[in-house]
Amino acid sequence: MPKLKVITFGCQANELDSARIAGVLARRGYTLTEEDADADLIVLNGCSIREKAEQKLLSRLGTLQALKRAHPWLRLGVAGCLAQREGEALLRRFPFLDLVVGNGEHLAEIPQLLSIQAGRQASAVCEPAGLFPEDIAVHRDSQIRAWVGVMEGCDNFCAFCVVPFTRGRERSRHPDDILREVIALRDAGYREITLLGQTVNSYGKKLQPPVSFGALLRRIDAVLDRQVRVRFTTSHPKDVTPELAEAMASLPSVCEHMHLPVQAGSDQTLERMGRGYSREEYLQAVAMLRAAVPELAITTDIIVGFPGEREADFEETLTLMDAVGFDGCFAFKFSPREGTPAATLPDQVPAEAKATRLARVFELQNQLSLSRNQGLLGRHAEILVDRALRTREAGLVAGRTRQNKIVHCQASAGVPEGGLVNVEITRATPHHLKGILIPSP
Ligand code: 5AD
Ligand code: SF4
Repeated sequence: MPKLKVITFGCQANELDSARIAGVLARRGYTLTEEDADADLIVLNGCSIREKAEQKLLSRLGTLQALKRAHPWLRLGVAGCLAQREGEALLRRFPFLDLVVGNGEHLAEIPQLLSIQAGRQASAVCEPAGLFPEDIAVHRDSQIRAWVGVMEGCDNFCAFCVVPFTRGRERSRHPDDILREVIALRDAGYREITLLGQTVNSYGKKLQPPVSFGALLRRIDAVLDRQVRVRFTTSHPKDVTPELAEAMASLPSVCEHMHLPVQAGSDQTLERMGRGYSREEYLQAVAMLRAAVPELAITTDIIVGFPGEREADFEETLTLMDAVGFDGCFAFKFSPREGTPAATLPDQVPAEAKATRLARVFELQNQLSLSRNQGLLGRHAEILVDRALRTREAGLVAGRTRQNKIVHCQASAGVPEGGLVNVEITRATPHHLKGILIPSP
């Protein structure tokens, strides 16, 4: 049986696409391998959101060229946003590459591309057709957590972002199809379902009739019991509605965590980014969410050094971080992406200023994360155990709370992976918590 290795560089949407690649090829008899040397086909599936992400993938591709010389039967493919963006230019740049295939619905074309004679290059990277990739089988590694795509693409065209170009226009999946998948996952014993979309809470506006994201959550919650958690990512601040806050507050399966990228704290920068909200509106959205769900953990994305960002604008990012008290944050230096408006804006910020600002964001976030986590000391939390830790301390397991915080705890009683247990939080660091098991009554 031919062997496949899929290597993912990127976000959860890329992970879901990798699961689709594995699913599509499993139907054609491929089995998965972890070893490069065992593989008949290696697909590098990656992101093109920042230059660094692209470079990582391309440098791995370079190293695989040597393997291909030793294993002439090996086929190499590039998939995902990078492939979608670069298209056939990749085949010209890397003549040893066999396959280039774009995102989403294009992934279904992989078997057909592979049927093209070995040694010839093949690609499928035309414009995303605007369909949700409904019929593509998804192969899942975990028996505990599953990602479920609910929408694809984005219509926002933030000035810095390639996603609308690589993943196409916003399109939502029919709620009945989502429900069917959720029920199948529930019946297969999955414990956590993460609903995925580039702007997941913009879900359903274009469906006929429209379905709000809050209504989707309600339908999903209704088919689950307390043994299954629901998460969703990534949310856009402009679509945080009272209905969504109310759904999060009232639906027992929906976890108390929201990833809500703010990107910047100054109105001037937000305006130039084309984000569609002001600093004040972001803060109001947070206040509304917290009023409904006091336990809510909020994480964010921040870009430093967007063109035209002055020192004073950057300071406003810091004051906003402080005002919200984020539980965590992913921060990035602005990376100019060809074809996006921000790449050619005047007043590009010098590299050193970006590096200093990034370091200041990380430093502040460490303090904020620590203080948020210290606020949990002595509190009780439910964790979903997902793995045993290989540390010197025997019997340690790691799990996540409903707020998505990582907790390490002793599980001498043999807590199974996928088990839900209660812990008391006894130690806090910026990035994880320690806890002790509370015996169930
Ligand atoms: N430069 C830097 N960061 C970017 N992101 C998106 N595009 C860029 C870019 N050109 C960041 C945003 C987004 C996250 C997924 O990646 O913060 O929320
Ligand atoms: Fe990119 Fe903006 Fe769409 Fe997010 S909302 S995917 S940052 S264009």
